Amino acid sequence: MSVKITPLSPSIGAKVTGVRLVGGLDEQSFAAIREAFDTYSMLVIPGQPMNDDDQVEFSKRFGTLEISVAVNPGRGTPFARQSNLDIKTGEMIPPDDRRMFYQKANMLWHADSTFKDTLSLCSILTARKVPPEGGATEFVSTRTVYEGLSATAKAEVEDLVVEHSFIHSRGLVGFTFTPEEAAHYPAVRHRLVQVNAANGRRSLLIGVHASHIVGWPLAKGRDLLADLMARATRPENVLRHEWTEGDVVIWDNRAALHRATPYDTTRHVRLMQRTTISTGVPSQL
Ligand code: OGA
Ligand code: MN
Repeated sequence: MSVKITPLSPSIGAKVTGVRLVGGLDEQSFAAIREAFDTYSMLVIPGQPMNDDDQVEFSKRFGTLEISVAVNPGRGTPFARQSNLDIKTGEMIPPDDRRMFYQKANMLWHADSTFKDTLSLCSILTARKVPPEGGATEFVSTRTVYEGLSATAKAEVEDLVVEHSFIHSRGLVGFTFTPEEAAHYPAVRHRLVQVNAANGRRSLLIGVHASHIVGWPLAKGRDLLADLMARATRPENVLRHEWTEGDVVIWDNRAALHRATPYDTTRHVRLMQRTTISTGVPSQL
């Protein structure tokens, strides 16, 4: 196979062609994908229809898979399901259903699993059913925002620790948890500045789950996080991916933020399956 990598924007994303992910992807091609992942933080690999078993097999090449917890319909499996189709009946879920409300939180800029003690390396989202309009996913780099800070600002953020909390982020959209659900999500601490071990590039671990800066007055920490978010998500930095069935998209959860965009959930169906690969390294903080 001869893998071709084509950048999609100045700050994030590349398209990968010349590969078949299912049915024996060779070591060399995988190594090229893995390296492009470290370089571009987000990869689009079109024309790769796959089933759940194929996705698990491909995902495992990046590391250990997370098992979904509590609220996602994929709980207890390696899949987080983004869909308006009921997982059991296959029928469309009514828009006022709690499950649809819950998915709306995906429309806020976030990285997956930053509310967990062990961060995620990457997520892999495969397009199984795509609406004819709407339902794009948007991406931004948090490397670009770090690299754009002044030397003083870089020094100021270098050793900061951020508390991330799922209860905090879902609370922002008015979602409430039962005590049993809430028990799955204790707040966690991570370094704001993350360093990619392969290339030394620094990024910021921000997004909707980032609640506050440890050791700073609440308002001051929230102002800093809001300022970094505003810089990261400036419209000119956004890469928008319009899905086609068979697309596979991989993003770095330590160096990129993403968000879902709306589609008409009463008229169109959308089914995306996500696997989430763990860094395998629990927070030391
Ligand atoms: C996700 C996610 C966005 C989308 O799967 O983690 O945020 O557009 N998805 O479905
Ligand atoms: Mn997500």
